[in-house]
Amino acid sequence: MKAPEMLARIRENGAIPRHVAIIMDGNGRWARERNLPRPLGHRSGMKSVREVVEGAIEVGIEVLSLFAFSQENWQRPVTEIQALMSLLEEYIAREADELAAQGVRVRVLGDLARLTPPAAAAAAQLMERTAHNDRLVLNLFISYGSRAEIVRAAQQLAEEVRAGRMAASDIDEDAIAERLFTAGVPDPDLLIRTSGEQRISNFMLWQVAYAELYMSPVLWPNFRRQELYAAILDFQNRDRRFGRVTA
Ligand code: IPE
Ligand code: IPE
Ligand code: MG
Repeated sequence: MKAPEMLARIRENGAIPRHVAIIMDGNGRWARERNLPRPLGHRSGMKSVREVVEGAIEVGIEVLSLFAFSQENWQRPVTEIQALMSLLEEYIAREADELAAQGVRVRVLGDLARLTPPAAAAAAQLMERTAHNDRLVLNLFISYGSRAEIVRAAQQLAEEVRAGRMAASDIDEDAIAERLFTAGVPDPDLLIRTSGEQRISNFMLWQVAYAELYMSPVLWPNFRRQELYAAILDFQNRDRRFGRVTA
């Protein structure tokens, strides 16, 4: 099926996921298949990012979350980390105008203190520049680990209890959700992972509690809007019961 036909079918089906999250994986394998250095795989993946952003806007998704760099990825060779940091700067420099023009609100989520100063500055500037947009929220998870995010929320809550602003018994699921980077954003309805791996790799553990999972064999640099549409069509066939029985 061609992309326009898939899009028409998605619209016909009607149930559009509000929030789609993607673990963008397989850049290194894409490069290795071509005997190229790994950073060229990451560079090639930028085109896929553009494709899914455009695809998400066309479908009418409200929030697109992309896992770009994990806390664990800091353990990769320095040269690869440096390449990823400069790619982030390059992505922002190249795409900022287009993202702003398309009405995308960009948020960079994670431990940004660890980013190189130019990458952190570029991220801050893009967030500020697009803060008033509301067509699509694009969450870029960079230097992000879900357990660290939950620990941070627990520390904030402990501090509030210690200061007497809150009782321990007031801590509920909303109190935790409000202290995650994703505060105020609905939980992902659909979580896609590319490259055939079948794991979560410390991504949004709290938020994906009831997400539908879609594992695609396609390596991230080969991921095009048709692949996104295929995932959404598959999602539209799922029976989301949330623990209840179907009527
Ligand atoms: C995903 O591709 C991008 C990042 C994790 C930064 P990988 O670099 O993990 O590619 P593979 O898994 O080695 O193929
Ligand atoms: C997960 O991919 C992180 C990102 C896509 C940014 P990895 O390639 O780092 O995950 P593992 O090592 O296969 O679990
Ligand atoms: Mg990987």
